[in-house]
Amino acid sequence: MRKLLFVGSVMAIALSSSNVIADGKATYDSSCAACHAAGVAGAPKVGDNGAWKDRVGQGMDKLVEHAIKGYQGKAGYMPPKGGFANLSDDQVKEAVTYMVDNSK
Ligand code: HEC
Repeated sequence: MRKLLFVGSVMAIALSSSNVIADGKATYDSSCAACHAAGVAGAPKVGDNGAWKDRVGQGMDKLVEHAIKGYQGKAGYMPPKGGFANLSDDQVKEAVTYMVDNSK
């Protein structure tokens, strides 16, 4: 247990000192890519401009809210935080930013 706590705090320090883009990518790779890399179950594919254009049109706040709280859309079901309840709201926000930036 003590060892786990130590690993946890080292990770927290590593995360807070790296930049937003790197954090967003890391969260995306570990928690979101399973669905969003290939477009599984109706998930908008990262890099597919057409799939994101209308979504981005709702505004970043709405996108982030949907990613954090989850939502049922026409294409499928986006689970809250992709099903990773351990992610902070900021981590989800950074992942959304990374996804949108790479889908323009
Ligand atoms: C189990 C599969 C799955 C995982 C994992 C997943 N998503 Fe999704 N996501 C979806 C699906 C399906 C949709 C499309 C829902 C619709 O519009 O019908 C979606 C839609 C979205 C949208 C668009 C919301 C909107 O308003 O149009 C965002 C942003 C998003 N996901 C972010 C994330 C982030 C960030 C993660 C990782 C933390 C993640 N997703 C993980 C399935 C997933």
